[in-house]
Amino acid sequence: MTAYKQDLQDIAQKMVASGKGILAADESSGTIKKRFDSIGAESTEQNRRDYRELLFRSEQAMKDHISGVILFDETIRQKAADGTPLVQVIAETGAIPGIKVDTGAKDLAGSPGEKVTEGLDGLRERFQEYHGLGARFAKWRAVINIGSGIPSQYCLNANAHALARYAALAQESAIVPIVEPEIIMDGSHDINSCFEATSAALKALFDALHEQRVMLEGTVLKPNMVLSGSKCSLQAGDDEIAEKTVRCFRRHVPAAVAGIVFLSGGQSDEQATARLSAMNEGYETPWQLSFSYGRALQAAPLKAWGGKAENVAAAQAAFSHRARMNALATTGNWKSTLEAAA
Ligand code: 13P
Repeated sequence: MTAYKQDLQDIAQKMVASGKGILAADESSGTIKKRFDSIGAESTEQNRRDYRELLFRSEQAMKDHISGVILFDETIRQKAADGTPLVQVIAETGAIPGIKVDTGAKDLAGSPGEKVTEGLDGLRERFQEYHGLGARFAKWRAVINIGSGIPSQYCLNANAHALARYAALAQESAIVPIVEPEIIMDGSHDINSCFEATSAALKALFDALHEQRVMLEGTVLKPNMVLSGSKCSLQAGDDEIAEKTVRCFRRHVPAAVAGIVFLSGGQSDEQATARLSAMNEGYETPWQLSFSYGRALQAAPLKAWGGKAENVAAAQAAFSHRARMNALATTGNWKSTLEAAA
């Protein structure tokens, strides 16, 4: 095997190391502003740096439970308060720095209510720059909505094609691609509609990855769980979610894929943990099933911080707790009593 292919596999294996998961801290400027608005903090460059620095300096949690951190373009170029590049702060904990490279989901021409993710122009050169800045993996997220007559095959194929183009370019630059086809949970659809949409999206994705010669052993999948729509009157329980999610992946995800790290997608932080734990407790799978949570890891520390320097230690404690709960879930050993005890 050529050296770069071995490197990709080694990085991917570290990203899905047993008992660890990924911190998604790659909120775009618009999204982080919304998060800061919710705690009454101003979204200045320094506040964004201070907040993210406190997460990355939660040393024990980072060392024990976090295998990688997904960054936004601004953050990968930022320095900590003491002048150390944030990428170095992360690397010193043993976690791998990663970078979000898509430029967002835009309306899909000719298909109202559907989106396609942009960001391919100039991506080869951007990957080279990000590699120089320390990134060893990347993320690209496709947004798939469920509704009347959607998702269309057109939307699934357009997004799968873009995900595969991105993944092939990432691997060429010795960067492991996280491929993220997110079925959005908004809507009144039931869990079986989510199962069907997730199946169709994964089928389109793995066909495109195969066509575009992407090495699956050097690729990490970041999917949604198979869930009831957030406005569905009949909400599936954790056991049904675990069973249907695993069944869907067994049908569509080749065993060669390095690992699966879930997004939280608007589940409460405890739900995201409980469901991951239910999957790992109940099922044997060919892939490590772990987490790459944004909101489900950050909601508690963000609230505890509240934009105030005097709350840094409390925020770090809240982050460390969630990281530990999710680490336990990767081996099926989380219990709700551990939440109460904290
Ligand atoms: P959430 O866990 O908040 O869904 O974010 C994960 C992510 O990276 C979405 O792209």
